[in-house]
Amino acid sequence: MATIRLGDEAPNFTAVTTEGEINFHEWLGNSWGILFSHPADYTPVCTTELGTVARYTDEFKKRNVKVAALSVDGLESHRGWIKDINETQKTTVNFPIIADEDKKVSTLYDMIHPNANDKQTVRSVFVIGPDKKIKLMITYPASTGRNFDELLRVIDSLQLTAYHKVATPANWKQGEDCVIVPAVTTEQIAALFPKGYKEIKSYLRVTPQPNI
Ligand code: BEZ
Repeated sequence: MATIRLGDEAPNFTAVTTEGEINFHEWLGNSWGILFSHPADYTPVCTTELGTVARYTDEFKKRNVKVAALSVDGLESHRGWIKDINETQKTTVNFPIIADEDKKVSTLYDMIHPNANDKQTVRSVFVIGPDKKIKLMITYPASTGRNFDELLRVIDSLQLTAYHKVATPANWKQGEDCVIVPAVTTEQIAALFPKGYKEIKSYLRVTPQPNI
């Protein structure tokens, strides 16, 4: 198992999922992607997480993000559990859940942390860009449900950097000023940022969020 780091190519794989067999890279196509693992089916925190992801379908679609979940449980278990998620979380799970019974994908992505649990995946999240490179990795413990608003916030930030040459400062939220990336020279600013900018220091230049 190789260590995965930011900027690495997301390892490709084929896997059995609740929506048929997928080749991960082909399934991603030109989209951004989220691959996230959970410890087990029919567990309370995971039920709320997958329900939340399903309810955020429109938010992911808006951002051109495809989502795939994963645990080491089998397909029949996933299918039965989806009914419970839909019922209890008032939603419809409409993204693939990978049945990683042989732990092939979990191992590829280092999702099993034996000193936490040697049989189940922890709560890993990988955000993958349209170039198939790893853009974000976060690992949560089994007992803490993820904050999917934070994931959307990070995707917004990543897309602002990719498409508009700005980064986002601490605690940034939609609509707030952004930071012009250091690679942009002073000479380029006027053409790139017609809304204007403020130079607080030569290395700290802020501009209104460009894409609103
Ligand atoms: C769960 O729901 O997945 C869970 C809850 C408490 C501890 C560990 C896992």
